[in-house]
Amino acid sequence: MMKVLLTGGAGFIGRWVGKRLLEDGHSVWIVDNLSNGRKENLDEFRQHEGLKAFIEGSILDEALLSTLFEEVKFDVCYHLGASINVQDSIDDPRTTFENDTVGTFHILEQCRKHQVKVVFMSTCMVYDRCTDQTGINELHPTKPASPYAGAKIGAENLVLSYYFAYGLPTVVVRPFNTYGPYQKTGGEGGVVAIFLKNKLAGKPLSIYGDGTQTRDLLYVEDCAKFVVETGYSDAANGHVINAGLGRDISINDLAMLIVNNESQIRHVEHIHPQSEIQKLLCNSEKAHKLIGWSPAVSLEEGIRRTEDWIRSTNLI
Ligand SMILES: NC(=O)c1ccc[n+]([C@@H]2O[C@H](COP(=O)([O-])OP(=O)(O)OC[C@H]3O[C@@H](n4cnc5c(N)ncnc54)[C@H](O)[C@@H]3O)[C@@H](O)[C@H]2O)c1
Repeated sequence: MMKVLLTGGAGFIGRWVGKRLLEDGHSVWIVDNLSNGRKENLDEFRQHEGLKAFIEGSILDEALLSTLFEEVKFDVCYHLGASINVQDSIDDPRTTFENDTVGTFHILEQCRKHQVKVVFMSTCMVYDRCTDQTGINELHPTKPASPYAGAKIGAENLVLSYYFAYGLPTVVVRPFNTYGPYQKTGGEGGVVAIFLKNKLAGKPLSIYGDGTQTRDLLYVEDCAKFVVETGYSDAANGHVINAGLGRDISINDLAMLIVNNESQIRHVEHIHPQSEIQKLLCNSEKAHKLIGWSPAVSLEEGIRRTEDWIRSTNLI
């Protein structure tokens, strides 16, 4: 049984990580400033005795973090709180840099002071395009194609430097594009959520550019299991670890898988072609070897679960 700090826990992936930690019997404290999260995402386990506190606050608030770390002797911090939108990072790089890089620094400083393991949530968006069918492993070149990627790479390096310089147990995880229930279905959501919402509303699906760009889509409960397990594993410390489905699909094929009707699909000008990554295919062998993780939910099954959820929430 561990005491866990979860940042970004009111967000899409964070609420699934929180759910899993509670199911595994841990005590969980959540910090989220609700800039993109929702309190309602926690409704399912709000009464759970393991959920010790939901703190509406920012990781940029050093006084808040300092008090919290003094009060609670955490064993591990899962650090998911971040600005996540590529276009927002292009329009307003300061906010992304502050939340993703400076915010991570504040978390690291507290964890260093109190000897708390850090699981840092990075992203596949730090990688350069994939060039073969074996997929992107952790030695694949990175490329900061957007300020979002740049901010995450900066934060990753700081996180690893605390492992090398101070011996602090830290791990960097790079999940590939994640989808599932609770992801926002508006313009700022993920491609699967947006496509499904438009399908259910009888609206056409808009594809940026020619739609040949590919994504390796990871179902959110597989993602959450991966993230949680890296926190449990000493073997993961000091490592960068990928997680993905191991199958990539073009956005054109994804749209067809979802609506199965060409006339419901249109192509529009890409909003940031310069920051697009043409091919993203994950190689998760390291996750399998180090922590025994592999994905359990197929793309078709994950889409079905997500569609059922969107329908049930009347978000359309
Ligand atoms: N969605 C994906 O496909 C994906 C893939 C790989 C990695 N990630 C990473 O996973 C994490 C969670 O992403 P998500 O998709 O659930 O997005 P999300 O926006 O739903 O979650 C991020 C949460 O962080 C909170 N937050 C932002 N700034 C904060 C601050 N200064 N202080 C406290 N809380 C703050 C937001 O309110 C939000 O609830 C992020 O670090 C993201 O970069 C996401």
